[in-house]
Amino acid sequence: MIDCKGKIAVLTSGGDAPGMNAAVRAVVRTGIAKGYEVYGVKRGYNGILNKEIDLMTFRDVSEKLQHGGTFLFTARSAEFGEDEGKRKAAAICKELGIDSLVVIGGDGSFKGAKDLSKYGVNVIGIPGTIDLDIAYTEYTIGFDTAVNTAMEAIDKIRETSNSHERCSVIEVMGRSSGYIALWCGIANGAEQILLPEKYNNDWEKIIEEIKKNRAIGMTHQVIINAEGIGHSYGLAKRIEEATGIETRASILGHMQRGGSPTARDRVCASVMGSYAVDIIDQGKKNRLVGYKNGSVYDVDIDEAFAMEKSIDDYQYTVANILGTRCDYKVI
Ligand code: F6P
Repeated sequence: MIDCKGKIAVLTSGGDAPGMNAAVRAVVRTGIAKGYEVYGVKRGYNGILNKEIDLMTFRDVSEKLQHGGTFLFTARSAEFGEDEGKRKAAAICKELGIDSLVVIGGDGSFKGAKDLSKYGVNVIGIPGTIDLDIAYTEYTIGFDTAVNTAMEAIDKIRETSNSHERCSVIEVMGRSSGYIALWCGIANGAEQILLPEKYNNDWEKIIEEIKKNRAIGMTHQVIINAEGIGHSYGLAKRIEEATGIETRASILGHMQRGGSPTARDRVCASVMGSYAVDIIDQGKKNRLVGYKNGSVYDVDIDEAFAMEKSIDDYQYTVANILGTRCDYKVI
């Protein structure tokens, strides 16, 4: 029997992402294996404020890995958003003897974690968001599943678009990040992609491309639009009016957040979950876990916030080259 080394709590916060369950499972099982008591916090930061905190056993995380969503539930907490809420959460952690808090979520959840660390709670972050919009890490849990879900849906829309010789505007998630749109652009062979990081409101250019493609005999076209740009119905109407080509808009929405996680999401989530416990065990404080050059690593939470995420320019160029018909170009 190993003496208890301390108490670790784990929560999921913000938008759910497929693979979060695998990360929780890894934190719980690695924590127990290394001699910690591990507690599951329900409903994100609200669960700390409401003391919805349960001791977890090895068996409590059985049969969770293969499911999307988060069995701990998630929330965006208004009370925790206030300074007073963070102070209260830190006091509760202290009262319950929680030495470290593992937060699985996106940038908003990490901002909360960073603030909480200033009140003396040791926070360790694991990136869980389908958006792939966190600068310090090459990977965020849920991205692969979401892209695959969107890709399959877009393939289907392309088939009907083809039959009707239409243009389709398909909106994918990504509030301020175009990564899902970029990857679907490449994976689905989209004729055009619109990303918040690159978009300059150039409607005429979009329409010009569609006309050129039609002129060389392209019967249908797919335009992938990121949620951060939005206005997909308006764009479809504008295209139809300007080109005379029947155009439909589809907003894929929250279906992109569900579904059984892919192998990549399960594996990355499991590795990051175990790694989070490893660094707690090494005595590290206030770190974010991520991937860099293909390997798991950790970075100081304040340093991570100083970094900025940008779109991969090479991938963007590839998406554009592959989506542009060259038949009408003189080479
Ligand atoms: O952050 C993940 C995300 O799915 C974004 O792509 C999207 O803008 C947002 O969450 C939607 O949030 P909600 O589920 O609260 O509507």
